[in-house]
Amino acid sequence: MSIPVVTVGQAREDVVGGLERLHGPVTVVRRCTELTELLAACQSGLARAAVVADGCEGLTASLVDRLGAVGVAIIALTDDADEAARLRGIGVASALTGVESAALAGRIAEAVAQLTGTARDATFGSGLGETSAALRQRPADHADVPPASGAGKIIAVWGPAGSPGRTFVAANIAGELAADGKSVLLVDADSYGASIAAVLGLLDESAGIAQACRLADQGLLDADALLKVATPVTTKLGTFRVLTGITRADRWTELRAAALSLVLERAKEIADVVVVDTGFCLEADEELSFDTMAPRRNAATLRTLELADTVYAVGPPIRWGSRLVRGLAELELAVPQVSPVVVMNKVRAAAVGRSRNAS
Ligand SMILES: Nc1ncnc2c1ncn2[C@@H]1O[C@H](COP(=O)(O)OP(=O)(O)OP(=O)(O)O)[C@@H](O)[C@H]1O
Ligand SMILES: [Mg+2]
Repeated sequence: MSIPVVTVGQAREDVVGGLERLHGPVTVVRRCTELTELLAACQSGLARAAVVADGCEGLTASLVDRLGAVGVAIIALTDDADEAARLRGIGVASALTGVESAALAGRIAEAVAQLTGTARDATFGSGLGETSAALRQRPADHADVPPASGAGKIIAVWGPAGSPGRTFVAANIAGELAADGKSVLLVDADSYGASIAAVLGLLDESAGIAQACRLADQGLLDADALLKVATPVTTKLGTFRVLTGITRADRWTELRAAALSLVLERAKEIADVVVVDTGFCLEADEELSFDTMAPRRNAATLRTLELADTVYAVGPPIRWGSRLVRGLAELELAVPQVSPVVVMNKVRAAAVGRSRNAS
């Protein structure tokens, strides 16, 4: 069966025209003038592949994810090796601008086969983080953080509504692990009430997580870039790094799942342990909306829980009420593969008896 393809990039008539003349493995079903038109065409179910013959710099991880969500593979044409590497980082295959039409058709078929074998999620939004130029001005002295092994683990700290102490527990885990000599990155991914910066007394208005997501979205987040947006925090016993959270609740659209996945992947390279403070809400918000492409407020929490090696579920002691019990049931429904470790927080001294360290 011939693969239906949409294209963008009128400047490359030679390539697009060449594909049309093949009359076989691929069929050009629409020529678009810009990426937004291409996205709309793909979302209407017209195509299985998109060829970005010109202007591939406009491709971001979120756009790739949106196209992947509707089953469209992307092939971009570029002669720039750095740009090809960036594209590879966000899941886009590339070919040289002088590629033969038959070879390009082969690349398209490969990319489509690869996408079919890879389940991808839908995630999006129009994030607007700070410019990466602003980041470079900040002095980054991370010398006190021990080097990482390059294969870090993710600990997600979740808990139901009602301020059970997620942030408190996450910050303490980070501090204790740093004191233990581990290389630690604490990430504030709470899309409702980010508070790690406030809890740690950081005068940080820059939302490290939003900056990291923006760079990831653009395919520019390597380990060095992540180190630049992370803030070192020194305690009496050790130093760890922090990706501060969004500074206003209405900036939640900047925490998109596709970008956050890339951030957490990079984070594992720069830290032995990545501790993530999540939001409480587990509702799959796309079910509440007719627009499945709309940004999802709970995507950051859900994606973190999916990617975590260990999930701590923080709540008040169960006899205080059933919020944690209900929360655990919701967690099981939302992310069935997770086996949470329950942390009962805010336990009154009297409730644990005189010898609280006994067991
Ligand atoms: N074990 C504890 N002992 C004493 N105080 C605690 C403990 N855990 C949390 N707290 C306090 O409870 C309050 C809420 O804690 P925290 O901000 O960590 O909760 P949260 O679950 O992150 O809430 P939010 O929904 O606002 O994100 C804070 O004032 C915190 O200092
Ligand atoms: Mg919190």
